[in-house]
Amino acid sequence: MAGLIPKSFIHDLLDRADVVEVVDSRVPLKKAGRNYQACCPFHNEKSPSFTVAPDKQFFHCFGCGEHGNAIDFLMRYDGLEFPDAVEELAALLGMEVPRETSVNPQAEARKRQQAADDYQQMEHAAKFFAHQLRRHPNAPKVIEYLKGRGLSGEIVKAFQIGYAPDGWDELLKALSKDQRSKDQLVDLKLVNRNDNGRYYDFFRDRIMFPIRDRRGRVVGFGGRILEGDGPKYLNSPETRVFHKGRELYGFYEVKQAHRQIEQVVIVEGYMDVVALAQAGIDFAVASLGTATTTDQLQMLFRATRKVVCCYDGDRAGRDAAWRALENALPLLTDGLELSFLFLPDGEDPDTLVRKEGADAFTARLGQAQSFTSYFFSHLSEQLDLASDSGRAALLSQAKPLIERIASDYYREALLAELARLLRREVSQVAAQVKQAPATGVKREELKITPMRRAIALLLQYPQLAQEVPVHDALGQLKVPGIQVFMQLHKQAREQNLTSAQLLELWRGTREEKLLRQLVTWEHHLDQDKISQEFFDTFLYFIDLFVEQRANELLAKERVAPLTHAEKKEYMALMQHRAQKNTGGDDSGQGKQRS
Ligand code: UTP
Ligand code: MN
Repeated sequence: MAGLIPKSFIHDLLDRADVVEVVDSRVPLKKAGRNYQACCPFHNEKSPSFTVAPDKQFFHCFGCGEHGNAIDFLMRYDGLEFPDAVEELAALLGMEVPRETSVNPQAEARKRQQAADDYQQMEHAAKFFAHQLRRHPNAPKVIEYLKGRGLSGEIVKAFQIGYAPDGWDELLKALSKDQRSKDQLVDLKLVNRNDNGRYYDFFRDRIMFPIRDRRGRVVGFGGRILEGDGPKYLNSPETRVFHKGRELYGFYEVKQAHRQIEQVVIVEGYMDVVALAQAGIDFAVASLGTATTTDQLQMLFRATRKVVCCYDGDRAGRDAAWRALENALPLLTDGLELSFLFLPDGEDPDTLVRKEGADAFTARLGQAQSFTSYFFSHLSEQLDLASDSGRAALLSQAKPLIERIASDYYREALLAELARLLRREVSQVAAQVKQAPATGVKREELKITPMRRAIALLLQYPQLAQEVPVHDALGQLKVPGIQVFMQLHKQAREQNLTSAQLLELWRGTREEKLLRQLVTWEHHLDQDKISQEFFDTFLYFIDLFVEQRANELLAKERVAPLTHAEKKEYMALMQHRAQKNTGGDDSGQGKQRS
């Protein structure tokens, strides 16, 4: 594992990056006043509500609520994890990402070097297999086979399909220079070592499909037998660079083909992905011989709003689909769409698209079964809903599943259908199903308190922090959020930060979610009123503090005499209160600020 990325580097990165440029490289922007606009890439819309603010270095969609800085944009748009998005942004700017040295810097450096070597060796293997498809004596036979399956040279190249020669150790000979690289090939499961200490290639006489991770690095292979005995497909076992449950065959290629991915189809096989791409349906991925995991679904839902699970209509296909549904439950949020398409017996996407053509297959995708419909058709398969016991069984099976859903939309849709099937009122059924814990504070439910208003303004206009000094005593104010406010105030005063940089300091903290809502909160204030509003709220905190502290001292005095310092403090507090009451209005005090 690489070390942590230093916070200071992320600060510099956001200093140098221009969110307008980053967004514009993927979604062309139009200038609109001080800001830039486009139709939101994260939800469907006809008029632009997606705004990028150069001063805040922030993007925000008023339609779907998506927002963030340049790093967030790359995470969401390119479907990257945080460190990968940082790497990507740094690469765009020609910067090298440093890593915090750990307790054991040598070991870290070795590991990093190891990982780089591993990816390079996997890439070499892919190139070797692709090369064999052109040069090996068996190449004509293999090419004939691929042609027979309807694949063009172009598609073979796009997926870097290759051929593992039929000798014992062709790859080993080509890729190992010394014992160290031999061991590495064994670690990467490209080469096996038998009990006699003899080394031989893991894949022999097979058509090779390189599996790439989301950043395009080859991490494993699937190898299809041409003819004869043996398992039809051989897959790379898990290695230090290959984790099956986290990769999807074809996902990198889908991302390469589309700037904005409208939908993704999950299929079962390598050949299905490639055959669909050949037919022009270039948005299919395959989970690697296992059920589709939550990790895989999450990776897809980061990049697209619509996923269709497309499986065989047989028992295995139905089981796979149901497991995908279960794994998707915690991920479903409003606006995401998951549907299910079952193919006729004996067909897979490859055979079907070649038989019927792309249009017919696309039409099938359009008619995929909705999440709700599949949910109930699966659960009630074995039940007689005309009987009380059948309906009771449906309720008890559906209940724990619905309770895992955080989305109001899906929850309501499922409850409505459940009520219909049970012949009850929706409210009756809803009362029996617990509400999943909300994933965040709801936008519309967010109550704006003075503290939240102050925090929101500070986040949106960090330069406000320069207008008032930090009062450390204010930290004792008994109002929720004061510590967050104080810390933000200090952070924003210490350096000239944009909203993007200020918020970045809170990534991964408990407060992040709330701060993200506040940074996009609409204050409905004119630009020239913002400063006054912030200052007034600040004064309100001070008054509140004076009241709280004075009452505290009074309460104390009833039990024990005040110390000299406390008496002085009390006097000062009273003086402040008197000044406020006689000294007049807020605007007068507002003028003291510069
Ligand atoms: P299928 O048997 O449906 O193969 O397995 P396929 O993709 O249709 O292949 P073709 O069309 O005959 O060439 C679907 C997936 O299950 C895994 C592979 O990932 C395969 O793509 N599988 C299948 C294996 O891992 N091993 C096997 O022996 C068979
Ligand atoms: Mn097939």
